[in-house]
Amino acid sequence: MKTKQNILVTGGAGYIGSHIALLLSKNNYIPVSFDNLSSGRKNNVRWGPLIKGDILDTRKLVETLQDYNISSIIHLAAKSQVAESRKYPELYYLNNVKGTESLLEAMKKCKVNKLIFSSTAAVYGNINKNKINEKELLKPINNYGLTKLQCENLINKKSKINNFNYISLRYFNAAGADPVNNIGETHKRETHLIPKLSKNILTNKDLEVYGTNYKTKDGTCVRDFIHVKDIAKAHLKALLYIEKYKIKGEYNIGTGKGFSILEVIEEYRNLNIGKISIFYKKSRIGDPPKLIADPKKFQKKFNWTTKHSSISNIIKTDFIWRKSIL
Ligand SMILES: NC(=O)c1ccc[n+]([C@@H]2O[C@H](COP(=O)([O-])OP(=O)(O)OC[C@H]3O[C@@H](n4cnc5c(N)ncnc54)[C@H](O)[C@@H]3O)[C@@H](O)[C@H]2O)c1
Repeated sequence: MKTKQNILVTGGAGYIGSHIALLLSKNNYIPVSFDNLSSGRKNNVRWGPLIKGDILDTRKLVETLQDYNISSIIHLAAKSQVAESRKYPELYYLNNVKGTESLLEAMKKCKVNKLIFSSTAAVYGNINKNKINEKELLKPINNYGLTKLQCENLINKKSKINNFNYISLRYFNAAGADPVNNIGETHKRETHLIPKLSKNILTNKDLEVYGTNYKTKDGTCVRDFIHVKDIAKAHLKALLYIEKYKIKGEYNIGTGKGFSILEVIEEYRNLNIGKISIFYKKSRIGDPPKLIADPKKFQKKFNWTTKHSSISNIIKTDFIWRKSIL
């Protein structure tokens, strides 16, 4: 039998990283999570070793790449809260951009030449189109999106100098959970709609809706919600590809369908899982009105389709899991 290959997963103790680690472990890989536990949890790392470290620590990265004989990396470690990025731009630059630079330096030292990078729809900014494809101009309107764009550019530039292959995946709104394996999205402060809605229902709190005057179907923001298990599958497909072929490119990871905030709330109401009261607040700086992926480029190249991303499944899995941890 083929020996299992180690894959470095930076940010493997986080929400999306832990779902990827689980899927890797089911597919004959060993996920080696490298995480400083700033927003991740030790208990999310159950399918391979946890190396507690910061991606800014190039020496520790080099040591880990050598100790585990790593040939491919999935790089998720980042700070990713839009409002926080506005308050602490330098911190976001240091953690996300300098952190990625440090990882690229470690890759060079250890001759690792395959990288899958977690990017985001926030690199697009405010695009007035029904669906966004990868050819759109990249003009982020928040610092978080800006740091991810800087990472993308750095990866692209260094891939030519240091001769490595990469796939940058621009996820739209990750959501949903895996209640069977007891992993899901949880942060000290929930800022994402679905975890917040589930939590507020379970704790009898009202939900704030930011902005009602956007030029969208009902005035609230529209987002493309994609189940975290479908995102994990996209990484597996990307990994299998990059292990065999040369590639450098950026791809959208989304469903191609958009739901407004009020539509998501309506979906919760249809499921009859608890009372929801909302109140309206001013729109937040840095929130684009509408972000819907055109996911065709990734679908075609990697023969990938979503299986878990119906809005009701996303809501149900998040709610069931959150109820189990409260
Ligand atoms: N959640 C989404 O909807 C979404 C959408 C688009 C892109 N992304 C990207 O996906 C990735 C994972 O996001 P998530 O939602 O799982 O967030 P998360 O906060 O749950 O996971 C991030 C992980 O990275 C770790 N980390 C952060 N800085 C680090 C550092 N300097 N060194 C080592 N570890 C560090 C954290 O401890 C955490 O475990 C991020 O890069 C994020 O920008 C997320």
